[in-house]
This record gives sequence, structure tokens and C-alpha cells, in this order.
Amino acid sequence: MGLGVVGGGVAQVLRERREAITALIGTPVVLRHALVRHREKPRVLSPDLLTTQPKDILYDPQVHIVVEVMGGELPALNYIRQALEAGKYVVTANKEVMAKHGPELLALARERGVDIRYEASVGGGIPLITPFRQDFLANHIAAIYAIINGTTNFILTRMAQEGQDFASALSQAQKLGYAEADPSNDIEGIDAAYKLAILATLAFHTRVRPQDVHREGISHLSARDFRYARELGYTIKLLAIGRAEEEGVQVRVHPTFLPQDRLLAKVDGVFNAVQVEGDLTGPVLFYGQGAGSQPTSSAVVADIINLAQDLAFGPRRRPPLLLEPPIPLKPMAQLRTRYYLRMSVADRPGVLAQIARVLGDNQISIASVIQKEVDEAAQTAEIVIMTHLALEEAMQRALAEMARLPKVAEVSNFVRVEG
Ligand code: NAP
Ligand code: HSE
Repeated sequence: MGLGVVGGGVAQVLRERREAITALIGTPVVLRHALVRHREKPRVLSPDLLTTQPKDILYDPQVHIVVEVMGGELPALNYIRQALEAGKYVVTANKEVMAKHGPELLALARERGVDIRYEASVGGGIPLITPFRQDFLANHIAAIYAIINGTTNFILTRMAQEGQDFASALSQAQKLGYAEADPSNDIEGIDAAYKLAILATLAFHTRVRPQDVHREGISHLSARDFRYARELGYTIKLLAIGRAEEEGVQVRVHPTFLPQDRLLAKVDGVFNAVQVEGDLTGPVLFYGQGAGSQPTSSAVVADIINLAQDLAFGPRRRPPLLLEPPIPLKPMAQLRTRYYLRMSVADRPGVLAQIARVLGDNQISIASVIQKEVDEAAQTAEIVIMTHLALEEAMQRALAEMARLPKVAEVSNFVRVEG
């Protein structure tokens, strides 16, 4: 179901690697239909395999595995449910469906004696779902730090390294097939929040829904933030963070200042990386192409092969996804981290003292300050502050108080800092 960037790639791999795939299963995988919206578009498949009718797939008794690579929540969710209800195995690359409905679909699959695999839903070609469902099972996972949206990482890399503007970097990512149908899903961190919800649910064995993830996008970052980050020894990444702490699990997606020497800071372009901290394994780093036709097809076709092997040699029983009791989620207000602040102020005596007082009154300690005169005629200056560890709710209070100071023209940005 779907014959676009991913579906087209999957059809090609199934055709070009037919013999090798047959050898792995002992029987060939035959592509019987491809659901599309527009029959008239040029395709990688012969027109007689195309259909615009989902029932041609869902009611065909010769179809054992349904591959959903259409995207979007509906109607994809309904088709997946119908396929499972009909006793068909399912492969999907759909992070929105799996983030919102994954545990229910896995339960439905178990009830019907089939399975649903979704390796391509997070990290494109990087194996992540299977490691969490198998290889990390002996661990308590302490944290996940992830760059899991190729489009935003591509844009941030272009902005940081080439000073390219946001719009042209985005349009390039769209041409390369990385961006979602609605690119605001990438830019606003929605895609990354879906992926974090999927990974955190697996890592912490507790239900994390997309709406549980605190989310901020990258559209408010400007060239000035990249310049100051470099000056201070940092780079800016859209980081997805899941951490198990005493008070509960913390899940958040937001632009983050990362020290330039951290491994994740060196992950550039469409590449994704996920750092997992298990209590037995210690840190483990997954790195690779998180989007694009071929890497994503790799994950989808591997899922097809695995399910076809189950069909040929007998199904595997899956461990339960969620364990009891559920772990509480830690509110964002209780986060303790460091902050970068940039503000535009009147270049007059006492301004810095007023800002320092607001921060001090909120128990926020300043680590460093940069002041630059930006407009001599208007006598305005830009102040950049790095703080020590501070409580998020105190920082939010301080930001509101600073914005009310008459000599502060604008609090232009604030970004959380790791490391
Ligand atoms: P895409 O290029 O837009 O392709 C979507 C395909 O689905 C098209 O063939 C479209 O038909 C068909 N389709 C969509 N809605 C349909 C409907 N209601 N009825 C029938 N056919 C429908 O999307 P994509 O980039 O391949 O992404 C597919 C899925 O993979 C999404 O869930 C996405 O998040 C996920 N994913 C994508 C990537 C990537 O790098 N692109 C990586 C990982 C995961 P027409 O061709 O006729 O328009
Ligand atoms: N739009 C997604 C990205 C595709 O840029 O990472 C892969 O999921």
C-alpha cells in the first residue's frame, strides 16, 4: 500500500534481489498489488499490478503480508487493522500510526496469531526496533539521546556549516525525498516526537504517547544562534531525549546546544544517530541514514523477509511490549538543565545588573556572558548568557520577568544545553 519514495524503493529491491531473498526464505516473495492514489503517474511497476482499491489487497487470500508505506494516520490505520483482523502479517514504515496506536496494533496482531513489524518507522535504514525488542531486553535503559529526523538535521547542518538559509535547505531536503508530505511535521519536531514515543515505549516498557513528549521545532533558530554556538564551542542539534529518572520518565524533543566534541555533535546531513545507555551495555551508538528510498527500503524488505521466514518456518512469539506497573512521566517543569539565552537590550548602564537580578532571584546561576554592541546609533546591544544547571520552571518564570523589563527589547531565543 503506497508506491512513493519508500514503496517504489521496496518494489525495486524485491525485483532486483529476488534470487537472494528467495534463498533466505526458501520460497519467492511475489509482489501481487500496489495501492496508489493516481494510476496515471509513471511507476517502477507494471500497470497491471496497480490498484486504487484497498479491498483488492485486503480481500485477496493470496496476500500473506501487507506492506503499508502510504503514510498519514488515516486511512492507513484502518487498512492495517483490517489486514491484521484478516490474519495477514503487516509491515509498516508509518511512525504516526505506530506512535499513536502501536501497542494496540501489536496486541491485535498477537490475538490473531500474526505480527506487525515497523523497523523503518524510526531511523530509516538503522536497525533500532529489533535491537530494542530483542538485544537490549536484559538491560535497564537509563537514557536515549537521538538525532532522528533527517530533514531537520540536514537543514541545521547546512545552516551551521554553509550559512545556507532555512528555506533553501528545506527545499533541497524535499527534493531529495527526506521530508514528510507536510514538512512542518519535520520542522516542528512532530516526526521526531513520534519516533521518540516509539523508542521510549520500547526502551522503558511503558506507554509513551506523542502528546506526552515535550516538543519544540527548529524554525525559531537564526544564523546568530549558530554563530554564538560556534563561539562558545557548541553545535545545535534537534535532539530527542528519553531519560529514566527517579521521579519518572522524561521525554522531550527540542533544539539543543551540544559540545562540539560529543559524538552526536558530529552527526551531519541526513544522517541519524541514536545513543542508548543500558545499565549492562553502557553507551551504544547507532548511526546511519535515517531517510531516503534505499536505506528505508532496506528496513522494510528485512521486515518482509523476517515475516516470510515466520510464515515458512513457523511464527515466533513476541515478548509483551508494556510491563506493569506503568512508569510515571516526569513533568517538563521539573527538568534541570543548562540554558543559552540571547536577548536584545538597551545599551545603557544597569541593564546587565537588572537581568542578573532576575536570574539570581530565580536561583539561576550565570556561567558566562557575552555582550556585543549591534546598533551603535540605536544604542542597542545583544547579550548572550549561558547558565549553570537550573530548574525549567524557574527559567520560564525568569524569561517572562526579563521580557517585562523596560530596557529589554526582546528575549530573542533560549535553547537548552547538554553536557
Ligand atoms: P510518498 O512518497 O508520499 O508516497 C506515498 C505513497 O502512498 C504514494 O504512492 C501515494 O500514491 C500512496 N498513497 C498515499 N495516500 C494514499 C491513499 N489514501 N490511497 C492510496 N494510496 C495512497 O511517501 P514516502 O516518503 O514513501 O513515505 C511513506 C511512509 O514511509 C510514511 O509513513 C513515511 O513517514 C515513512 N518513511 C519515509 C521515509 C522517507 O525517507 N521518505 C523514511 C522512513 C519512513 P500516489 O503515488 O498515487 O500519490
Ligand atoms: N521525514 C523523515 C526524516 C523521514 O526527515 O527523518 C524519515 O522518517
